Amino acid sequence: MPEAEPTMPETVAAAAPPVPRYTSYPTANHFGTRVTPAVHAGWLAALPAGSALSLYVHVPFCRALCFYCGCTTQAVRRHAPVAAYLDAVAAEAGRVARLLPADHEVRHVHLGGGSPDILTPAEIRALGAMLAERFRIAPAAEIAAEIDPRGFGPETASAFAAIGLTRASIGVQDFDPAVQQAIGRVQGMEETARAVGLLRGHGVRSVNIDLVYGLPHQTEAGVARTLEAVLALAPDRVAAFGYAHLPSRLARQRLIPEAALPDGAARLAQARRIATILAASGYVACGIDHFALPSDALATRKLHRNFQGYTTDDTPVLIGLGASAISRLPQGYAQNAALTREYADMIAAGGLATVRGHAFGSDDLVRAAAIEQVMCDLAFSADGLHARFGRAADAMASIARRIVAQAPADLVVPTADGFRLTAVARPLARLFAARFDAYLLADPAARRHAPAV
Ligand SMILES: C[S@@+](CC[C@H](N)C(=O)[O-])C[C@H]1O[C@@H](n2cnc3c(N)ncnc32)[C@H](O)[C@@H]1O
Ligand code: SF4
Repeated sequence: MPEAEPTMPETVAAAAPPVPRYTSYPTANHFGTRVTPAVHAGWLAALPAGSALSLYVHVPFCRALCFYCGCTTQAVRRHAPVAAYLDAVAAEAGRVARLLPADHEVRHVHLGGGSPDILTPAEIRALGAMLAERFRIAPAAEIAAEIDPRGFGPETASAFAAIGLTRASIGVQDFDPAVQQAIGRVQGMEETARAVGLLRGHGVRSVNIDLVYGLPHQTEAGVARTLEAVLALAPDRVAAFGYAHLPSRLARQRLIPEAALPDGAARLAQARRIATILAASGYVACGIDHFALPSDALATRKLHRNFQGYTTDDTPVLIGLGASAISRLPQGYAQNAALTREYADMIAAGGLATVRGHAFGSDDLVRAAAIEQVMCDLAFSADGLHARFGRAADAMASIARRIVAQAPADLVVPTADGFRLTAVARPLARLFAARFDAYLLADPAARRHAPAV
């Protein structure tokens, strides 16, 4: 957030520097190479008996690449690389599982990507069986998958049902043909509705739909039309992400027509329109960009932030399997090689595929907690931090006092032990979270993040 006092949310949005999405703290661009396979293995082996875990499996393949996509994925025409990759994931899972305490309990499984639905029905069943064989998965565990609805068929739905899928996250982004042309993703409403129907018909309890604003040719009226079509599908959750345009890092985004991108103020207007329509339709705002029906767990339980965004998952340990996957352990983060070839070579060599990560210092943990408060609660509570971190929370409390002193009253409201953000400040929350980020403050020149709104 700029130090000079802004007057309006639009002014802040227009002048805002790029800031991280804070799906972790420190963010992955601050990971280093000291976290090796041996360090990672030592961390896994030190987990206490009875540890509760979450599993993330990355499937870095899609049938074709959407120009805007910031995920670690690649387009595949043949299926052989996908099958070979699954063998590497099975080998990695076996190695990781042998290091875990025998009585661990997996409470959440997330299949992400890329597009996990690219797996054949037999591969989906085999992946579920492989995980169940190697890990102790709780009978009531949440099993979630990210799904591209284009070409999604009944056999795939039935395979996901067979592995116990409870939650599906489906990509839409925008239904406007001009936007779809500009982003390289043509997707009909009928095929999307069909995928939702198939998943629900197979017992999937919670369906999330992803939208993106800030895409080329998007207007406030256009995103409203897309949202009306999405609401007809009665999703349990909607995620509305601001488009992160980083063409210097992502070659595929150089195909996006930059002249057609909405500016900061237009992005803010689109985000607000989405929030207004969803509120009027009975959805509860969760964090900065998620919405859920009042009956959905995202609206009723405490929010947390992890690499998939907002979650109700409160398990302290996340095990990431597959290329580019990040594990979060009590000692720090460990990330696998991002290139599928390098990942598979490291697994074939007999070890883990860890290439980078970050060992937590005590300052990291208190800052991570402050950032999670702002991102999830849209508020800062010094009492909450003091209860967990003692005197280490003092520095965070003084940052919060500076925020209260500098920010305009239409954005930040003081509370007894901190502040809360107003409804209009919600899309700007990452700017406030960034004030607690020591790495960003130490090296603002290294900012290579998404637009703040
Ligand atoms: C793994 S994909 C979703 C599943 C599936 N592959 C699909 O496309 O339908 C994850 C989601 O990230 C979001 N996303 C991808 N690239 C983005 C970007 N550059 N900026 C903002 N959101 C992005 C999209 O909403 C997308 O649906
Ligand atoms: S948005 Fe989904 S389908 Fe498109 S490239 Fe990204 S992961 Fe693949």
